Amino acid sequence: MKKILFVASEAVPFIKTGGLADVVGSLPKCFNKEYYDVRVMIPKYLCIKQEWRDQMTYVDHFYMDYMGQSRYVGILQHEYEGITYYFIDNEGYFSGPKPYGDWLYDLEKFSFFCNAALSALPVIGFQPDVVHCHDWQTGLIPVYLKDRFRGGEFFCNMKSVITIHNLKFQGVWDVKTIQRFSGLPNYYFAPDKLEAYKDGNLLKGGIVYADAITTVSDTYAEEIKMPFYGEGLDGLMRARSNSLRGIVNGIDYEEFNPETDKLIVQNYNVDNFRKEKVKNKRALQSELGLVVDDHKMMIGVVSRLTDQKGFDLIQHVIDDLCSDDVQLVVLGTGEERYENMFRHYDWKYNDKVSANIYYSEPLSHKIYASCDAFLMPSLFEPCGLSQLMALRYGTLPIVRETGGLKDTVKAYNEYEHSGTGFSFTNYNAHEMLATIRYAEHIFYDKKREWNTMVDRAMKEDYSWNTSALKYQELYDWLIGY
Ligand code: ADP
Ligand code: GLC
Repeated sequence: MKKILFVASEAVPFIKTGGLADVVGSLPKCFNKEYYDVRVMIPKYLCIKQEWRDQMTYVDHFYMDYMGQSRYVGILQHEYEGITYYFIDNEGYFSGPKPYGDWLYDLEKFSFFCNAALSALPVIGFQPDVVHCHDWQTGLIPVYLKDRFRGGEFFCNMKSVITIHNLKFQGVWDVKTIQRFSGLPNYYFAPDKLEAYKDGNLLKGGIVYADAITTVSDTYAEEIKMPFYGEGLDGLMRARSNSLRGIVNGIDYEEFNPETDKLIVQNYNVDNFRKEKVKNKRALQSELGLVVDDHKMMIGVVSRLTDQKGFDLIQHVIDDLCSDDVQLVVLGTGEERYENMFRHYDWKYNDKVSANIYYSEPLSHKIYASCDAFLMPSLFEPCGLSQLMALRYGTLPIVRETGGLKDTVKAYNEYEHSGTGFSFTNYNAHEMLATIRYAEHIFYDKKREWNTMVDRAMKEDYSWNTSALKYQELYDWLIGY
């Protein structure tokens, strides 16, 4: 049995701020259980819903020296859908209304978490062959495995993988601070190790020291070797390109299934969507106070409202877009300027635009099921899960060709009658608008074509099947048998 430990800062269903949680919560279930024992470790945040915290059972605790003090590390456990989850408890570090807050404090908190996660393993008696780390929050683990946790039998053969879900966030502060939080000696703070542009950089540590690096789509794996997408680490990505591969994300096909989804008004499938899907639209239009009309093209957005997602493009042409015969339904939270922009247009075009500035799982499912098209004009997108959810629900994505969007949405070709969505190349508002208008044209004037595209979209397979095999291959290769 090969033992794998996922270490991450979030996992569905316990705690989620974005796609990382979906991945960490759904991928472990998809490995071959006969050969792989995959477990997951995350912090026990105080903001995890009480119903989940009540189900966790206490395993053990110990005290760990960290930054000159002896700190409590509790370990809790919960078995969910066949997967063992461990939760690292320290109420000092993991309180607060959200998993992330203050940058500086987050650096200390997750440095503590990396120390505690490895220190907890001998205590629970789980000795993974591979520790699979995710994003900057776990960047110190590959470093520690080559340093302070190296001696002794328990850790000496442990391999590490780091998956980059978003290169933009690296966990950076001045060298002195990062040195204090990580407890690493001077040796590590050089430009070929944890130092980048004179600062300390936790993700860089992970990338330099991990035995393998993955990211969440093939295109993003190529993009981050270039300055535009490389966030200052493109040189490092080129240098480590032999150890870097892209493995595209999947989504949980049980949770996101229009045929069984309990959060939507009307279930449907690829055979009956022509009749049934629209019932969801009707219900949502009335719920959100939009004009109730089966024939209006409804465009959805479910997203963190950050500049990564391309909202500047929408801002630039939203008046033009609203002069068209479309409805725009937005669900998201994030930067105030985008929240206010959508609130403003909701006010200005009240029966056409619906801005829902909050977080809601049920509404997100309703949007995936109800809309005709799903807009995601990202500036960059390591993978993107929302477009996969939209495809699964027969809601055609309109995307910019970057990262995972490029790899998962096939552009409509009216001559070959192929494609599962619409896409444009340049980060340009009018290019986006033209693409949306092209989609409107197909929707209103060539409904048959539109519907066969929905057919194709719903038949695509973006479950974890193929990608989980690729991770298994990678683990096998690392373990060496
Ligand atoms: P990212 O991880 O960059 O935010 P992804 O597309 O990978 O983007 O994943 C986003 C996930 O978060 C999807 O599951 C999406 O449905 C969900 N999501 C984003 N914003 C909200 C919201 N306001 N309410 C509910 N779900 C949301
Ligand atoms: C990040 C990326 C997103 C990706 C997700 C899960 O949040 O922004 O593109 O889908 O991680 O890998």
